[in-house]
Amino acid sequence: MKPRFKNAADIKVGVVGYGGAFNMGRMHLQDMQKAGMTPRAVAEPDAARLAVAAQEFPGIQTYASVDEMLKKSDVNLVVLITPHNTHAPLALQCLKAGRHVVCEKPFAITTKECNAMIAAAKKSGVMVSTFHNRHWDGSVMKALEVVKSGVIGDIVRIECHAGQWAKPGDWWRSSRSISGGILYDWGVHFLEYALQLVDSEISEVTGFAKQGFWAAQSKWGKDTIEDEGQAVVRFRNGVWVTLTITHIDANPKRGMMEITGTKGTFLWEYDRHEIIVRDGDRTTVTKGPNPKEQWDKYYANVAAHLTKGEPLVITAEWARRPIHILDLAVQSAKQGRTLKAKYA
Ligand SMILES: NC(=O)c1ccc[n+]([C@@H]2O[C@H](COP(=O)([O-])OP(=O)(O)OC[C@H]3O[C@@H](n4cnc5c(N)ncnc54)[C@H](O)[C@@H]3O)[C@@H](O)[C@H]2O)c1
Repeated sequence: MKPRFKNAADIKVGVVGYGGAFNMGRMHLQDMQKAGMTPRAVAEPDAARLAVAAQEFPGIQTYASVDEMLKKSDVNLVVLITPHNTHAPLALQCLKAGRHVVCEKPFAITTKECNAMIAAAKKSGVMVSTFHNRHWDGSVMKALEVVKSGVIGDIVRIECHAGQWAKPGDWWRSSRSISGGILYDWGVHFLEYALQLVDSEISEVTGFAKQGFWAAQSKWGKDTIEDEGQAVVRFRNGVWVTLTITHIDANPKRGMMEITGTKGTFLWEYDRHEIIVRDGDRTTVTKGPNPKEQWDKYYANVAAHLTKGEPLVITAEWARRPIHILDLAVQSAKQGRTLKAKYA
C-alpha cells in the first residue's frame, strides 16, 4: 500500500470498545500517541466506560455506537477492542466505510471471516491489521535468539500449555459463542509465537475438545467454553506444535511453552527462561530473565506503514494463520478427524 498520510499526527484514531477488564482502550490510545497519532474518538455502548474515556482523554469525541462514530467523526483509523465475535462484523463495517482498521486479537473466529476482511480492505484500498503486541514479547524474542544461535539444535516440536483447575469465570471469555472457544484468547498468542519460530508451512491440524464438565456450574450453561481444547499442528518440514488450554488440570505443567530441539530444550515462562542442553551424559542448565517486551513497535510500524509505506509486520495474511489453525482445530474436534490446511 502507498503511504496515505504525510505525518503520523494526520492519523486520527477512533477506539471502539473502552472496556474495564484491562482498560485496553487507554493502553491503545497511549501507545498510538507515542507513535505520533492523534486520539480522536471513542465509541462504547456502556455510558460509565465512555465517561472514563472522556476523563482519561479530555476533549476526545464520545459516541454510543460505531454507526454514530462513522457518521459524525473524521477518524481515519479505527481500533476494535471488543469481544471476539464482534471483530469481523465491526471490521467489515469500518473497512467498507473506507477506514483503516486495527483489530485486537484474535483477528476473527473463522478463516471465512478473515478472508472477508482481507477482501473488504483490498476493495476499499485500506489497511487491516491485528494487534499482535506479543509478537514483541521478551520471551519470544529470547526464544528466537536461542533457536537462531543453534544451541538447542533443530526444532523437533513446540508445546504450548496453560492449565488450571477452575470453573471458567463469569466474563464473556467463558462463552463459546462470544469468545470462539477456550483456545481463542491465549491460544492465539501461543500460536503466533510458534509461527514465528517454525519456518515452514502449515500442513494439517487435529483438534480435541472436552466439554460438559464445568458447564453445569457456569453461568453460560451449554454455551460454556470447552473444559479443555487441544490442537496438534503438523508443518511441512516435519515439526509439530501442540497447544493445550485446560480447566481440568490438577497438576499444571511448568512453563508456558517448551521448544525441544535435537540438542536441548528452551523452556519459557513469561519473564524468565531455562536452556537445558544435552551433550552425551552431560546436562547444562542456563537460567535467566527474558528481555523486556517491546509492544511500542506495533504502532510504530503501523504509523511508518501509513506514512512512509514501510512494510507492515502484522499483515492480515499473517494474522489469518493462527485463526486458520484454531478454526481447523474446532472443526477437527467436531468431526473427529485431521483436516488439511488451506492457508499455509
Ligand atoms: N493484546 C492483548 O494483550 C490483550 C489484552 C487484553 C484483551 N485483549 C483483547 O481485547 C479485546 C477486548 O477485551 P477486553 O478484556 O478489553 O474486554 P472488555 O469486556 O473489558 O471490553 C470490551 C468492551 O467492548 C464494548 N463493546 C461490546 N460490543 C461493542 C460494540 N458493538 N461497539 C462498541 N463497543 C462494544 C463493551 O461494552 C466493553 O466495554 C478482546 O479481543 C481481547 O482478546 C488483548
